[in-house]
Amino acid sequence: MTIDNVKGREPILRVVPQPRDINANGHIFGGWILSQMDIASGIVAQREARGAVATVAVDRMEFIAPMLLQDLVSVYAWVERRGRTSLAIRIAVIATRGVDEEKIPLTEGLFTFVALDENHRPRPLPEK
Ligand SMILES: CC(C)(COP(=O)(O)OP(=O)(O)OC[C@H]1O[C@@H](n2cnc3c(N)ncnc32)[C@H](O)[C@@H]1OP(=O)(O)O)[C@@H](O)C(=O)NCCC(=O)NCCS
Repeated sequence: MTIDNVKGREPILRVVPQPRDINANGHIFGGWILSQMDIASGIVAQREARGAVATVAVDRMEFIAPMLLQDLVSVYAWVERRGRTSLAIRIAVIATRGVDEEKIPLTEGLFTFVALDENHRPRPLPEK
């Protein structure tokens, strides 16, 4: 993943990790990053499905570089594929670091969501 992958897109989330999110190496826990990715992609999926969705699969995740405490974290997410009831959401996590505001790709992933009806069963996506 490069910065070019998110050119022209707005981040869905912009967050700053807290001291409690650091592991013994001084890096941010992978689970914290995963959680932000799930939240951001869930927002996109719910908007596209116009209603409830659930994460059904995390198909791919790659941690490219460590995230540091002072990083401003931008989480980008967009629809990569629409199925009948499911949506594959591509997620890219970019850090803005230091006074020079260097942009560093941190993580990417592909999460799959399913639109749910009131019985928590798959529901067809609305027409585009
Ligand atoms: C989501 C859930 C209702 C799907 O039920 P299911 O019986 O597997 O449904 P289906 O087999 O009809 O599949 C529904 C869609 O999901 C897709 N899907 C199911 N499992 C998948 C997987 N492992 N990877 C990618 N897509 C998957 C199917 O391809 C189908 O897509 P399509 O309609 O676009 O072709 C069920 O698996 C569930 O409740 N899972 C728990 C969800 C959850 O609690 N998530 C964590 C908290 S949000």
